[in-house]
Amino acid sequence: MLSLFLLRGKDRDELSKIIAPYVSHERFSKLRRHRHHLFFNRHEHLIHTASLCLRLAKLFRADVETCVLAGLLHDFHETRVKGYEHGLESARNARKVGLRNLHAISIIEAHMFPLGFGKVSVPKTREFAVLKIADALAAVTEVAYGALHSVAVRSIAHSRIRFEETRDILVRISREIERLERSAEGAFEEVLETAKSAVGTAVNTAVETATTVTAIGKIRKT
Ligand SMILES: [Fe+2]
Ligand SMILES: [Fe+2]
Repeated sequence: MLSLFLLRGKDRDELSKIIAPYVSHERFSKLRRHRHHLFFNRHEHLIHTASLCLRLAKLFRADVETCVLAGLLHDFHETRVKGYEHGLESARNARKVGLRNLHAISIIEAHMFPLGFGKVSVPKTREFAVLKIADALAAVTEVAYGALHSVAVRSIAHSRIRFEETRDILVRISREIERLERSAEGAFEEVLETAKSAVGTAVNTAVETATTVTAIGKIRKT
């Protein structure tokens, strides 16, 4: 799995401690089956968002645990719903796997704001702002990374095709040269044979003529 936003050292340990009870849940693992932001799966997106939440929470002096839990579980659903309703569904699922942090739950419910405006109460807190920034940042990075990656893979594939085409052309040319060499050899052999037989015929004719002339000479003498 490609991991963006890798945390190291203390931050990594802190993140692991907060998310451990939820990521070990079978239902959470199954989020790998759901595509998210074109090139990633939902499991990856949630880990990325939770990691960013940890960093941003420290930066903005927000409650780290609340931000990380909201980041980890804000898209905890198996639906394809893009509207604010998936926030409500994710919050329900988060409760089912043991989330009791009410602030995190309200952030999850409202994370699609301004979608769902007037239907879901929006927490006006730093933690909510942290989740909104982290989610948007994760989404933009995932889409941009995926697009660049696919362009790179495509251009490598294109280069491979060009290489194969060039190689095929060279192979065809070398085969054509071999064929021409063989046919030139054959033509040369044929010319040689014809020349040999012409010379043979000429020699025989000369010998026959000389024999005839000698015979005529002998007859005249007698
Ligand atoms: Fe979402
Ligand atoms: Fe998200």
